[in-house]
Amino acid sequence: MTSFSDLGVVRPLAQALSHSGFSEPFPIQIATLPDAIAGRDVLGRGRTGSGKTLAFALALLSRLDSRKAKRGKPLALVLSPTRELAMQINATISPLARKVGLSSVLIAGGMPFGKQLQALEHGVPIVVATPGRLIDLMHRGALDLSDIEITVLDEADLMSDMGFMPAVKEILDATGRGGQRLLFSATLDKDVDALVKKYLRDPIEHSVESAGIAHGEMDHHVFFVKQEVRDEMLAKIGSRQGRTIMFVRTQRGADRLAEKLQAKGVAAGTLHGGKAQGARTKALDAFKSGKTPVLVATNVAARGIHVDDISLVIHADAPTDPKDYLHRAGRTARAGESGTVVTLARLNQQREMKGLIKKALVEATFTHMDVANPELARITGAQEPTGEPWFPAAEHAPKKRRTSRPGGHAGEGGSGAVGRHKSRHKGRSDGSGSQGQRSDRPKSGSGGGRGRAGGGSGKPPGGRPGSKPGGKPAGGSGGKSGGKPRHKPKA
Ligand SMILES: Nc1ncnc2c1ncn2[C@@H]1O[C@H](COP(=O)(O)OP(=O)(O)OP(=O)(O)O)[C@@H](O)[C@H]1O
Ligand SMILES: [Mg+2]
Repeated sequence: MTSFSDLGVVRPLAQALSHSGFSEPFPIQIATLPDAIAGRDVLGRGRTGSGKTLAFALALLSRLDSRKAKRGKPLALVLSPTRELAMQINATISPLARKVGLSSVLIAGGMPFGKQLQALEHGVPIVVATPGRLIDLMHRGALDLSDIEITVLDEADLMSDMGFMPAVKEILDATGRGGQRLLFSATLDKDVDALVKKYLRDPIEHSVESAGIAHGEMDHHVFFVKQEVRDEMLAKIGSRQGRTIMFVRTQRGADRLAEKLQAKGVAAGTLHGGKAQGARTKALDAFKSGKTPVLVATNVAARGIHVDDISLVIHADAPTDPKDYLHRAGRTARAGESGTVVTLARLNQQREMKGLIKKALVEATFTHMDVANPELARITGAQEPTGEPWFPAAEHAPKKRRTSRPGGHAGEGGSGAVGRHKSRHKGRSDGSGSQGQRSDRPKSGSGGGRGRAGGGSGKPPGGRPGSKPGGKPAGGSGGKSGGKPRHKPKA
């Protein structure tokens, strides 16, 4: 059995992991840690929920071990496309950092500047950030990236999207010359080529299992449903036992669906980029604690977000992009757990859906589904809703809503990517370029906002035991380096 120490992880970290029940490294960690700790540039691709966060976190912490940073001059940077993901990454890194005399700070939009500025002023070695706020602080002179030795791009293919690219380039250009770069994603494909060419030196690619290959533990279903029964079907599904995430295309669509579910008695929260950051954080916390076992979300929650025991993912609006399909679906069946993914499609979308499933490289069952069909309950656990309206606590109500933009990541504004995505995905009718939304676009000197980092996880009603300590490795055939087996689910 390979241990974390065998891979080069420094002793205090390996010990801390084993005390928390992380006794064995996962395949993506076995594949990437030795090279990353040796200082090489790494491209890491492992399926959703396979432990990529610890793979890059342990590498940068082992490399920096006890180093000190100068004021406003951090040594390592992790970039994330959304604020929620940045919070989550920082929540993983921060306690481990303390074990090796390091500290980290979350730098993301929608939150007060105070703590972020204070940490920088104090000399913090690790920064976990969304690009917009980071650039904001650079422009204010509070942050200088010239000492950065390690840069991680999580969800690197999305960070290479036109919507993020200018900011990412500006950031990488500002980092120290010759620094190490680590790029990770479940769908690391040719979209990263431009970044790789310009910013990586002799990178080694480790691809642990194709992101889209069907797994025993993730069951895929497509239901063709008459439009008039869609809402009723979603209310029944939402009344199931266990934690369910429902993805929709637009912010408006998310609010509307949640309202309909709540009217039927389903405790549903919403997460989308039109909400104030405080409300976003609360909605995610309520989902994690089981207060609202159903979360209706746009693609802001599709990438990287880990909540224990999501046993069912519903594409309430069918995605058009196979990558969106895979990342949304990947909110279930994480860390070796199992889960079900159901796409609700219209009767006239049969060809489109078969094409999408094929491009996503998954195997799915296609069914004409009706609310009375016993298969609905068998597959999803659907139950009759109580019919007693459920009222969200005031803090869950949307405080701020923009116009009905196609749903996407945090800021969800991004128009920058639309052009390119239109041309790359000819079938896309929403024009959303849903990969291109910036969570925190560079805004020169913009003011602070509300909200704060949140975390915590709990068990849902009827949920399965947690998947963290001692979780089984999520499939995987071990690392393989070299070559160019890059998965390219896009057409
Ligand atoms: N070696 C390990 N042993 C047990 N659990 C682990 C191990 N490594 C990671 N995990 C757990 O696996 C879960 C998923 O990890 P993580 O969020 O890093 O996945 P990911 O590969 O980044 O997925 P995504 O592509 O969706 O971002 C987390 O709960 C994490 O704590
Ligand atoms: Mg991740």
